[in-house]
Amino acid sequence: MSILVELNEKIRNAFLECGYEVDGKLVTLSDRPDLSQFQSNTAFIVAKKNGINPVKLSEEVIKKLENDTDLSKVFVAGPGFINVVLDNNFLSSYIERNFSKIDLTKYNCDKKKIIIDYGGPNVAKPLHVGHLRPAIIGEGLKRLSRELGNEIIGDIHLGDWGRQMGLVISEIKLRQPNLIYFDDQYSGEYPDCCPVTVEELNELYPTANCAAKNDEARMEEARNATYILQNKDHKNHRGYYELWKQLVKTSVSDLKKTYEKLDIHFDLWRGESDCNNSIPKLLEILSEKNMIETSDGATVVYVNEEGDKVDYPPVILKTKNNTVGYQTTDLATIYERLEEFDPDEIWYVVDARQKLHFDQIFRVAYRSGMVDESKKLVFIGFGTMNGTDGKPFKTRDGGVMRLSELLDITENKAFEKITNTSIEKSEKQEIACLVADASLKYADAISNRLTDYVFDIDKFTDNNGKTGPYILYSQVRIQSLLEKANVQGIKEGNLLAPSSKEELNVMLEIIKLPDVIISAYNNKSLLEIADFLFYLNSSFNNLYNNCRILDEKNIERRASLLKLIRIVGDINKKLLYIMSVRIPKRM
Ligand code: ARG
Repeated sequence: MSILVELNEKIRNAFLECGYEVDGKLVTLSDRPDLSQFQSNTAFIVAKKNGINPVKLSEEVIKKLENDTDLSKVFVAGPGFINVVLDNNFLSSYIERNFSKIDLTKYNCDKKKIIIDYGGPNVAKPLHVGHLRPAIIGEGLKRLSRELGNEIIGDIHLGDWGRQMGLVISEIKLRQPNLIYFDDQYSGEYPDCCPVTVEELNELYPTANCAAKNDEARMEEARNATYILQNKDHKNHRGYYELWKQLVKTSVSDLKKTYEKLDIHFDLWRGESDCNNSIPKLLEILSEKNMIETSDGATVVYVNEEGDKVDYPPVILKTKNNTVGYQTTDLATIYERLEEFDPDEIWYVVDARQKLHFDQIFRVAYRSGMVDESKKLVFIGFGTMNGTDGKPFKTRDGGVMRLSELLDITENKAFEKITNTSIEKSEKQEIACLVADASLKYADAISNRLTDYVFDIDKFTDNNGKTGPYILYSQVRIQSLLEKANVQGIKEGNLLAPSSKEELNVMLEIIKLPDVIISAYNNKSLLEIADFLFYLNSSFNNLYNNCRILDEKNIERRASLLKLIRIVGDINKKLLYIMSVRIPKRM
């Protein structure tokens, strides 16, 4: 169900009838929309290959399409380009057939089972601006893939098992040495409450990290605490583990609040720690394949291969202190995910700066046979959201910007920009919340996933241009139009052939949807969706500003226009849902 695929088929057959077998992408959208809607450069290429005149060949091919009633015009331009214009009746019935209901499962995509690993916050560290991108890109790709009919499992993969936990625990021990968690003689029950608050927790890690960097003894304490936490046989393990459970619980309930606010929902709230029981199995597999070696007392796997252009450091499975870190937990997690879910693919939506880490562990996963070559491990990297200085966006005094602070700043700005005076303050606050959310999500989607972009609050919250508020305003307008029609008892009818260029343009935007969706899915990026939304809504706004809709005199045309607008509204709803953007009732 793609207009390009349908036209491709027509062009392919026409060439075949002329005696030429052609394949691949034969048709694209026209780059001269003033002249035609679609174009094909195939005659040009075929003529060159066969040493014949491209214009003559184009003319021959065009003759074969002459009687096709789906096309109103097929003509040669320049040195042998075939230009195509759709027939208006075909266009409206094509939309009637394919877009009356927006169902992405009908789009052409192999259905797979995919685990998406995204979000990736660290327990005991507050969410900062850097956590916005993995959350919204991951959520968007999850929703898009699911809408296309794939089976998707979204996992947050909390950072809850490495040295950072050792740092936090040893810092707590330093401040409150008498807590029962540190008493190895204690054999009773532990209380079900956390000895520190979220606020304290958020302060503990940075303090501990800074102290340990400057003090080897404290670093050793942290390593030791990590070891005790990770090793069941240690006499202190039970208390450390109970304390750790409380820290995770406190941190997770705080994380849930922020993700809830962003309308981001994980199917699994697993973490690095969940794979701890599979680490022996991982080591066994790697040792059977003779992949394990020791280096400086650490257990490692060498991953460099002949022909590498960069230097691949070895994967460290166990440090010389016998603790496991980020690489081991990622490998053991792959093992567990395959055992439990047997997915076709695992996607990692993670900061582009971690590419090397994933290259390393993917090599180990495939080479050990743990992951079959038929399955795909995919790294989906992204750039950072920066300040005007080109560095990750910071607070005014140069500190790490908390995600909650970023949301507050954006909400305040969105609030200022709501000019509708008939809205009460409390409702305005709610609307500002949604508009701010849309501003950030749309701005993120419209920037290239792999490059960095600058946090520009005025641009993001602008009511015009490629912005979240622009799309929301447009959708709110559509909703109120449909509501009005409903109140007036106006029903939608069959789509008629377009009677104005504004109507035609809306239709020409609508039919691009399937190609946009499939391309976004293949590129694992929401950019094309955000871009499409802008052009679709610009075309709608043009129609709205220049043509009669509800006060159109011709009843059948009015019913047709209503349907067209309802379809635009349905597409908006679906795509905004994919981008996890919520729509206010009014603005
Ligand atoms: N917690 C990690 C970090 O903050 C991101 C986790 C990404 N996912 C993964 N499977 N490694 O850098």
